[in-house]
Amino acid sequence: MCGLIGNPVGHSISPVIHNTLADIMGIDLVYTTFKVEENQVEAAVKGAYALDILGMNVTVPHKQAVMRSLKEIDPLAEAIGAVNTLARVDGGYKGYNTDILGLERELEEENVCIKDNPVLIIGAGGAARAIAFLCASRGASSITVINRTVEKAQNIAEAVNGYYGIDSVKAVSIDQACALQGDRYVAIQTTSVGLYPDVDNVLIKDENFYRKVGVGVDIIYNPYTTRFMKILSNQGKPAYNGLKMLLYQGVAAFEIWNNCSVSKDMADRVYESMKEAMGINE
Ligand code: ATR
Repeated sequence: MCGLIGNPVGHSISPVIHNTLADIMGIDLVYTTFKVEENQVEAAVKGAYALDILGMNVTVPHKQAVMRSLKEIDPLAEAIGAVNTLARVDGGYKGYNTDILGLERELEEENVCIKDNPVLIIGAGGAARAIAFLCASRGASSITVINRTVEKAQNIAEAVNGYYGIDSVKAVSIDQACALQGDRYVAIQTTSVGLYPDVDNVLIKDENFYRKVGVGVDIIYNPYTTRFMKILSNQGKPAYNGLKMLLYQGVAAFEIWNNCSVSKDMADRVYESMKEAMGINE
């Protein structure tokens, strides 16, 4: 038995990911969702342990709060300050951040290389912070965090520079971003701008900005092709959405819980099931 705690959880695609994987791999596992109120996170984690639940995913709004109820925390998740996967260990659960492992696996699959490349992160919320830690840990040559509120980008830059003892993470305003030099940035869009139903919107409207970008990833997956992706595609550049990140965060959690390895072919089958469940025909 595995499950998801969060609030709301009713429309989660995670049961499709895990129950399909269990089916394909012949593993005797059932995954369901549990709506948990904010003041019940610790009780939920203890209860899950008492019920012999193998693993849990954690979603909004509990990804930070759950960290107080864990036995151990993986170092990258600790640095990021957010946990989305709990794996049963002796006496409690160990926390991981497979959201970020999911993005890493999507980047690998699409041949988007972080090591020794300059990265632009658009936005400075929780997702941007996690992505900045990932890119620093994987050896990006520079990381520029672009945000409407520059102070929030500066906070991320200071946290990542401090943690890794580097000075290659910088914060800039949207105007400054448009004046950056270079033409091969890996740009990762992390804001909610462009999310359904606001599908024609994009945070940086100046199309010249996109000339600096070599490849783009939008962590949004609804719509399947965002405005950000369309601008890049129109300039002949590859652009990916966040649906594989969602797939692979689940795959990574499933692998941790079951001590197994999910092949590309199996992951592709799960991806098709997700698209079908979400009504995506592209
Ligand atoms: P998450 O934790 O999911 O990453 P978040 O904390 O809500 O999301 O962060 C949202 C990000 O999107 C922020 O960088 C926010 O910019 P501000 O820090 O300036 O608020 C950005 N964002 C959201 N809506 C925006 C808008 N309409 N224009 C500009 N930036 C926006």
